[in-house]
Amino acid sequence: MTTSTQPPAGIAPETTAVPARPVGAAPQGSGDQLLRPHAEQAFAAELAALAATDRRRRPPSWRLSPWAVVTYVLGGTLEDDTVITPKYIGSRRLVEVAVATLATDRALLLLGSPGTAKSWLSEHLAAAISGDSTLVVQGTAGTSEDAVRYGWNYARLIAEGPSKDAMVPSPVMRAMAGGSLARVEELTRMGAEVQDALITVLSEKTLPVAELASEVQAVAGFNIIATANDRDRGVNEMSSALRRRFNTVVLPLPATEDVEVEIVSRRVAQLGRALDLPAEPPAGAEVRRVVRIFRELRSGVTSDGRTTVRTPSSTLSTAEAIGVITGGLTLAAHFGDGRLSAEDVAAGLVGAVVKDPSTDPVVWREYLEGVVRDRDGWKDLYQACWDLDTEARGR
Ligand SMILES: Nc1ncnc2c1ncn2[C@@H]1O[C@H](COP(=O)(O)OP(=O)(O)O)[C@@H](O)[C@H]1O
Ligand SMILES: [Mg+2]
Repeated sequence: MTTSTQPPAGIAPETTAVPARPVGAAPQGSGDQLLRPHAEQAFAAELAALAATDRRRRPPSWRLSPWAVVTYVLGGTLEDDTVITPKYIGSRRLVEVAVATLATDRALLLLGSPGTAKSWLSEHLAAAISGDSTLVVQGTAGTSEDAVRYGWNYARLIAEGPSKDAMVPSPVMRAMAGGSLARVEELTRMGAEVQDALITVLSEKTLPVAELASEVQAVAGFNIIATANDRDRGVNEMSSALRRRFNTVVLPLPATEDVEVEIVSRRVAQLGRALDLPAEPPAGAEVRRVVRIFRELRSGVTSDGRTTVRTPSSTLSTAEAIGVITGGLTLAAHFGDGRLSAEDVAAGLVGAVVKDPSTDPVVWREYLEGVVRDRDGWKDLYQACWDLDTEARGR
């Protein structure tokens, strides 16, 4: 008989087990090998530099002063010459109002169309203010009250009866206990009774635990950032009682083509670095074409204001424009010469525009024929889109 120190096939040796991060603990490490590091990992150096130079007053439990949080979000240069990259590109006043709200006893609701950076801004605000953006409740029709209050570890509950150790706190409860920010994503997709569970939390700043005849009281610094999609209106209206507890900040679509080109270019450059793409950064002209197409189809009129076009069912958000360019760059890097071509862009473009197969193809072809075909310098894109269309129809 042989003895072996090797574990039987299929059972991982114990040493490979990844130690779980203690629940509620701040994420560790620089996040270099992670597919998507949290904001507080990706920008740890910037946050540390801000904290080191920040001499303004910080609200209780805040890692930074409101001024430094706004600088982290919008970018700037510190007195020690550290450059803080802009995360959100948009109005300073809007970000100031959002940050100031979080220092009051009202919660913050970021409202806007899909892809207007609601989740993105919420993550960065939580990272800058609490150093932890991971206390998140994802709102869906299936989100239960446990996700907002607490649940139980049933094995322990049955073995030991209700106790503090058997309780599984929700991200909201952990944020209350730690004086930090909790994020609630897509608030209006949660059922009304789950939304209402937040009312006590926001008005009384306490979460009663009836089973233990106790409560968790919020430590100063606790607050909630919720996001909601303004296209979801009617899915689950927020009750007026809950709405009163929030200060609403509406995130707009980028006001001009130039601003949207800047947002897309910046994010594409960051994503390209994160994906380690060997492709060249895209020429501004290619980004501009995609952004112009998105804006024209979104608004229903060409950028010169001369021709009306039909709008497709798709949302065509800035986030999707970023996706089209990044996808194109990946094609160029792996299957092309590393330079973004019209063919690389076309595939993603059609995918983003044509969402409803019954109506969108017609809208798209009309746009191709009516606008793209005759535009100076756009022949390559027209041809690439048309070739794809022909291929798709099997001719
Ligand atoms: N104004 C903006 N400034 C910076 N990035 C933006 C802006 N608008 C959109 N983005 C980018 O688009 C994406 C928005 O995605 P997300 O935050 O998930 O949108 P939402 O939650 O509003 O649907 C992010 O990657 C973000 O970087
Ligand atoms: Mg979102």
